[in-house]
Amino acid sequence: PSKSSYELSTDKQDSYMSTLYFDRELNQNSKKAWHTIKTMVNLPVISPFKKRYSWVQLAGHTGSFKAADSGKILKRFSENEKECFERLMKDPLRSCVPCFHGVVERDGETYIQLDDLLTDFEGPCVMDCKMGIRTYLEEELTKAREKPKLRKDMYKKMIEVDPLAPTAEENAQHAVTKPRYMQWRETISSSANLGFRIEGIKKADGTCNTNFKTTKTQEQVLQVFVEFIEGNTTILKKYLKRLQEIHIILESSDFFKRHEVVGSSLLFVHDGSGNANVWLIDFGKTTLLPDGQMLDHRIPWQEGNREDGYLLGLDNLIRILESITER
Ligand SMILES: Nc1ncnc2c1ncn2[C@@H]1O[C@H](COP(=O)(O)OP(=O)(O)OP(=O)(O)O)[C@@H](O)[C@H]1O
Ligand SMILES: *[C@@H]1O[C@H](CO)[C@@H](O)[C@H](O)[C@H]1NC(C)=O
Ligand SMILES: [Mg+2]
Repeated sequence: PSKSSYELSTDKQDSYMSTLYFDRELNQNSKKAWHTIKTMVNLPVISPFKKRYSWVQLAGHTGSFKAADSGKILKRFSENEKECFERLMKDPLRSCVPCFHGVVERDGETYIQLDDLLTDFEGPCVMDCKMGIRTYLEEELTKAREKPKLRKDMYKKMIEVDPLAPTAEENAQHAVTKPRYMQWRETISSSANLGFRIEGIKKADGTCNTNFKTTKTQEQVLQVFVEFIEGNTTILKKYLKRLQEIHIILESSDFFKRHEVVGSSLLFVHDGSGNANVWLIDFGKTTLLPDGQMLDHRIPWQEGNREDGYLLGLDNLIRILESITER
């Protein structure tokens, strides 16, 4: 069996966001930032003559995915995400997310089984865009305030990007809290100003880049998109059409109204045959609101209102892609 799936793996100990961080020297030369990704799981080769597709994990915790039966993947179980998928399967958004195939046990671990969105592509190009102006839950903020857990690892990552970012107090303790780190990440990327950020890209040649943490301005984001689609307007138009469709479905979705959608991504996938599509993924931090409460997804966030800015991000994403077609 040939090894055909990949993950971006840097630092195994630090699970969260470790995949998003690369050596500092990668910052200095954007060409160097594209590197060949590591092989992750073996997928069965059905026929030696059939070209294998490659699976890639562009963001998130390392080691949280496993290959499943053909066309499916396993993601480490979380009760919250499972419940989200159960509700999504009965919502208009069903057509915008990977199909959920229940919970399975493998080697003593529990997983949720999902459709592999890369299956129908030949040598897919993949982009993960994390949506929303806020990337942590309000609950995490409250917890950190009541019982601040100091993170030396996050402090280290912070000074690697900007030695002047920590406060005097943070410098003294050589640590920051998680929400502080997440908030800082939002401001150095496009999350805070545009309501989304690019987490990672895999190109057709198999190279990946997850070093977009300081891709912040509209012009910078636009450049990354243009490179991702290699200036191909046919692909661009397909993406735009799908995003507009997703927009309409979101506005009609009861699930969307009733959830705080934090840390969820839009996964863009296209290939050389002209196939292009977008899906919503990652509901690990998507939270059902108390009975009757609804979100607007555009109102600015203030602590307590639980707004996530998802639609602000989607509006901006669509507007930026449209501006490429007008060039
Ligand atoms: N159904 C899928 N089909 C294909 N690729 C997927 C699918 N789900 C996830 N991926 C890939 O794996 C990456 C990480 O997925 P996801 O965001 O769901 O996990 P995570 O960030 O580890 O989750 P969490 O934030 O809950 O820990 C995505 O960026 C994407 O590249
Ligand atoms: C854009 O992509 C499509 C589908 O892959 C291809 O047929 C077309 O030739 C490409 N156009 C350009 C200008 O590269
Ligand atoms: Mg994720």
